[in-house]
Amino acid sequence: LKKITTHQLQEMKNRGEKIAMLTAYDYSMAKILDGSGIDVILVGDSASNVMAGNDTTLPITLDQMIYHATSVVRAVVRALVIVDIPFGSYQGNSTEALRSAIRIMKESGGHGVKMEGGSEIKESIVRVLSAGVPVMGHLGLTPQSIFKFGTYTVRAREEAEAQKLIEDAKLLEETGCFAIVLEKIPAKLAKKVAEAVSIPIIGIGAGPDVDGQVLVVHDMLGITKEFQPRFLRRYADLDSVMTSAVENYIDDVKKNDFPTQEESY
Ligand code: KIV
Ligand code: NA
Repeated sequence: LKKITTHQLQEMKNRGEKIAMLTAYDYSMAKILDGSGIDVILVGDSASNVMAGNDTTLPITLDQMIYHATSVVRAVVRALVIVDIPFGSYQGNSTEALRSAIRIMKESGGHGVKMEGGSEIKESIVRVLSAGVPVMGHLGLTPQSIFKFGTYTVRAREEAEAQKLIEDAKLLEETGCFAIVLEKIPAKLAKKVAEAVSIPIIGIGAGPDVDGQVLVVHDMLGITKEFQPRFLRRYADLDSVMTSAVENYIDDVKKNDFPTQEESY
């Protein structure tokens, strides 16, 4: 199996092959995703939610992201591994953005970084790209700005925000980003963006007319239960599978059915 590169993602868009991306935050999960043939693994700052139990992505630190990314990279043979730069480690300071990206690349061995925002963070993106670090953009619902938005509802329904989003997407392409995540925006707008720029557009809650899809792996496996947005398709009910396994184990231990002679030394 050949390693996936940013160039291959561009070729996939060019020939109309959809890009499959999922998040992972640890070695064991990343090994399963990579072995299954996933194209891109995102070490998302959603680790703040699903790994650490925070309400938002804001608290996770650069050191914590590097820990997650390092664990993922150790498992991966084929997939492209992209790492979120966390809140507070790139906005408004391109020198800090560069330092954060270089730490991620050096310490984790990841293959690129993702940053949320358009024109507001242009300088940071340019600076990171100047070091030869591939950058994935992220527009639409950008969870690091949740306290500006106030809610997690669909973004860019209004014309002005939709216009800015299209302009930002073009700016990210011109700047040199290799792909863009579009989160929770109308499908029609996402289609327009995917047609307006030549780099791959990866959607989450952005409809089918984009170049690829991404989901949080704990959500699509049904490990998380409370999170139920319309865009989330559950491919397994691991909460039930794991709960009954743990219940059976407890039962066996209480009844002294585990371990047996064969399971003992
Ligand atoms: O952190 C994350 O999981 C993400 C994806 C939802 C795109 O940024
Ligand atoms: Na993220």
